[in-house]
Amino acid sequence: MMTKTISATLKRANQDRIMEVFIMKIRNVLSIKLITLRFLLLSLFVFCNQAKANVSIHSEDYGVLSNGDKVDLYTLKAGNITVKVINYGGIITEILVPDKQGKLGDVVLGFDNLADYETKNRYFGAIVGRFANRIRQGNISISGEKHQLSLNRPPHQIHGGHKGFDKVLWNAQVKKSDDSVSLTLSYLSADGEEGYPGNLLVNVRYTVNQQNELVIDYKANTDKETVINLTQHSYFNLAARRNTNVLQHNLAVYADSILPLAKDKFPTGAVMPVTFTPFDFRKPKNIGKDIKNEHEQLKIANGYDHYWLTGNPFDKKINGDHRSENAELNLVAMLSEHKSGRIMQVWSSEEGLQVYSANYLNKSIVGKYQQAYSPQYGICLETGQLPNSPADNKFPTYVLTPGNKYTSKTVYKFLN
Ligand code: BGC
Repeated sequence: MMTKTISATLKRANQDRIMEVFIMKIRNVLSIKLITLRFLLLSLFVFCNQAKANVSIHSEDYGVLSNGDKVDLYTLKAGNITVKVINYGGIITEILVPDKQGKLGDVVLGFDNLADYETKNRYFGAIVGRFANRIRQGNISISGEKHQLSLNRPPHQIHGGHKGFDKVLWNAQVKKSDDSVSLTLSYLSADGEEGYPGNLLVNVRYTVNQQNELVIDYKANTDKETVINLTQHSYFNLAARRNTNVLQHNLAVYADSILPLAKDKFPTGAVMPVTFTPFDFRKPKNIGKDIKNEHEQLKIANGYDHYWLTGNPFDKKINGDHRSENAELNLVAMLSEHKSGRIMQVWSSEEGLQVYSANYLNKSIVGKYQQAYSPQYGICLETGQLPNSPADNKFPTYVLTPGNKYTSKTVYKFLN
C-alpha cells in the first residue's frame, strides 16, 4: 500500500515536472516568437516610413508667360528618381537619375527659364498633340468629312499646329501614395482648335515610383469623331555631362522594319525591313556607328528621324486591343551609356515609335547649364501612331468616337 502511494506520488511529481518543462518550452517558444514578431513589425514600420520618406511631391512658382499666365513647377520624387514638370506644355524640365557611382545627373535637354521654352520651340520635354508628327498639307478626312488643319510647317502640319498641346497651360492635380507620386495634367481642346473637330478632354498623368519608373498615362474623350496621337518629346542624354552628344550611347529598338521617307520627310507608304541596313538596332548598337552612312534614308533625315514598327499596327483592328486600359506593355527600346552606367528602357502600349536623333538642333540654341546644343546632343524616343496616318489611306487610322476613351501608356524605366 505504502509502495503504491510512493510510486503514485513519484508518478505525479514526474508528470508535474514534464508539464512544467513543457510549459517552459512553450513560454520560450512563444517569447522567441513574440520577439521575432515585434522585430518584424518594427522593421515593417521602419521600411514603410522609409518608403514614404522616399516619396514626395511639391510645387513652386516657375514664371509668368508673355500673356501674364502664371506657370508652376512640380517636383516628383520616388526611389532614386526625380522628375520636374511645368504645367506649360506639360514640359519635363529635368529628370535626375544616379550614375553607377550614385551621383545624380540630369538626363534630358531643356532650358532653365520659361521665356526660352516659350520662344525657342523645339518641343523640348513637351507633351505633343492633338496629333504628333507630320500631316501632309494638314488635310484629313474623318468618316468622309474633310477637315483643314492649321499649317505650322507650311504647306504641312507638324505636332498639332501653331499652338499645339506643347504650348498650352494645363490644369494640374497632384496625388501621393506610399510608393509613388503623380501629377495629372488636364486640358480641354476646343472644337475647331488648330482645325481639329470635337471638344477633346485630355488627361496626361505622370507617375514616378519606387521602381525608378516614369509612367505616362494618356487619356482623352471627345464629343465628335476626331483623330488623336499623343506623345512625349523629351530629348534624352544619359551621359548628363556637358558638351557630350549621344553618338556613344547604345540603342536597341525592337523592330524588324521602319517606314522609309520620301524627300519631303513624309513616309512613302512602304515598309522597309531593317536587315542589312543602318536601321538595324535589334541588338544594342552605338548610335554613331552608322549615322554618317551613305544610306539614302539617313541623307533624307540628316540622321535618324524615322518611325520604327515595334508591333504590327497593320494587323490591329481600329479601336483594337492596344487602346484598352489594360493593354499590355511591350519593351520597345533601350538606351544606355557606358561611362555613367545609366540604362533606360522604354515600354509602351503603342505599336511603334519615332526615333529622332536631334538632327535639327544647332549651337545657337543654348540650353540649361549654358550648353549649346549641337545636332545629336539628345535622342527622342516618341511612342505613338504612324506619322501622317490620318492623311494616308495606306496606313491604319485611329478615330476616337464620342462615348469611347483614347488610352495610351508609356514607361521610361531607369536602371544602373
Ligand atoms: C520630328 C522631327 C522634327 C522635330 C521637331 C521630331 O519629333 O520627328 O522631324 O524636326 O520633332 O523638334
